[in-house]
Amino acid sequence: MTATTNTAPPQRKRDRSLGLYRLLDPAVLADPYPLYDRLRTEEPVYWDAVLHAWVVTRYQDVVTVLQRCSAARTPDADHLATMGLEAFNPIANVLQRQMIFMDPPGHTRIRRLASSAFTPHRVERLRHHIQEITDSRIAAVRKSGRMDVVTDLAVPVPATVIAELHGLPEGDREQIHAWTSDFAEVIGNFQFNPDRIPQALTAMKELTGYFQGAIRGCPHHLNEGLVTGLLAAEDRGDKLSEEDVIANSLLTMSGGQETTSILIGNSALTVLRNPDQLRMLRADPSLIPAAIEEVLRFESPIQYTARLAAEDIELGGQTIRKRQAVMAVLAAANRDPERFPNPDRMDIRRENNRHLAFGWAAHFCFGAPLARLEAQIALESLLRLPNLHLDSAPLVWHDNQGFRGLKSLPITFGEAQTGAEIDRAGGAE
Ligand code: HEM
Repeated sequence: MTATTNTAPPQRKRDRSLGLYRLLDPAVLADPYPLYDRLRTEEPVYWDAVLHAWVVTRYQDVVTVLQRCSAARTPDADHLATMGLEAFNPIANVLQRQMIFMDPPGHTRIRRLASSAFTPHRVERLRHHIQEITDSRIAAVRKSGRMDVVTDLAVPVPATVIAELHGLPEGDREQIHAWTSDFAEVIGNFQFNPDRIPQALTAMKELTGYFQGAIRGCPHHLNEGLVTGLLAAEDRGDKLSEEDVIANSLLTMSGGQETTSILIGNSALTVLRNPDQLRMLRADPSLIPAAIEEVLRFESPIQYTARLAAEDIELGGQTIRKRQAVMAVLAAANRDPERFPNPDRMDIRRENNRHLAFGWAAHFCFGAPLARLEAQIALESLLRLPNLHLDSAPLVWHDNQGFRGLKSLPITFGEAQTGAEIDRAGGAE
């Protein structure tokens, strides 16, 4: 959902079959990289009449967009009325209070107060617990010799961790996950589907009510955690309102689950598809953090983000007018050969791997240290299982253009593995 001016820029002749909207085709969504290559080469900055936005795909241009454009892109009540989308008002009211959709000085204020609640110490305290949850999930399937990495590990671990981080009871984990998934469904997809409005509205209403209840009346529902931290956060007498706390807790709840689950699934898939890298990691587990960074670049969980031009900008030979929408395709920038030599190769020893998977500049992901920690622990624990193989079932990707993740990733494991078996594991798809 992005607020834009209604004036479309002048069209120049272009190949109409080329456009980001082609991600709506399941075959393109399964492998979007040839499309991104063509966009970077043929139309690095183009006006997409379907998305009603400029689409930007080169690394340096994406960095410019993230540095110079406005993040305050949530439409207000008037905009929604113009688009006939009044039903979205309750969602827009919450989004407008989330730091990710704000510019300075509001953004600086909320992020500063939230940072005092979400300290590296709070993340580090979770390390031991993340390992415990991961171990117990793997122990539950160990005897069977098979698991679905997504449903057995990648979904439950971040869901449990995020509930704990926010001080919410583990028993509420599944319900919270269902709400945030419904919400992510609407936020991540660019194909507007009116059928999904009621579901997203219900999720938003119930989640808000849940947090209000937890904050106001049910102390047993709220343990010490990020929500109590946000309520207590203070900077020279400045404090967050209850509405700000709820809106930004919803952001960290939803921002911290789906994306991290996807990263864990994509890490397992990418490493198992690249036997040479798997062998290197097994020989030297100190390479795990670098491997996670490479997966973030290679299969970025968030494919794009959006901005509004704060002023007229010249980019890639085009003029983007003030208040026009811009889609910054992080995943295309992360495969830009001008920035990353041999970008379609997964290389855990890649140097200077400053990818854009967590964004750039003021809005750089607030939860990156936690996401990295969870993914590193999950991958290292998985790699301790002998004789890992990808199942032969075809891969099914989520039908969400904004989030690139698998619905399911069945694997098998068993007795100790030889070098030749590791090679074969990569081919078994
Ligand atoms: C693999 C996992 C994750 C990925 C790929 C990811 C990606 C991103 C990206 C690309 C942005 C910038 C968006 C923009 O500039 O428009 C962002 C911002 C943000 N992320 Fe994450 N994220 C992840 C995990 C998390 C976690 C675990 C949390 C919370 C615990 C979180 C909370 C946030 C918040 C609050 C922001 C907004 C920061 C701001 O506006 O200043 N994320 N994330």
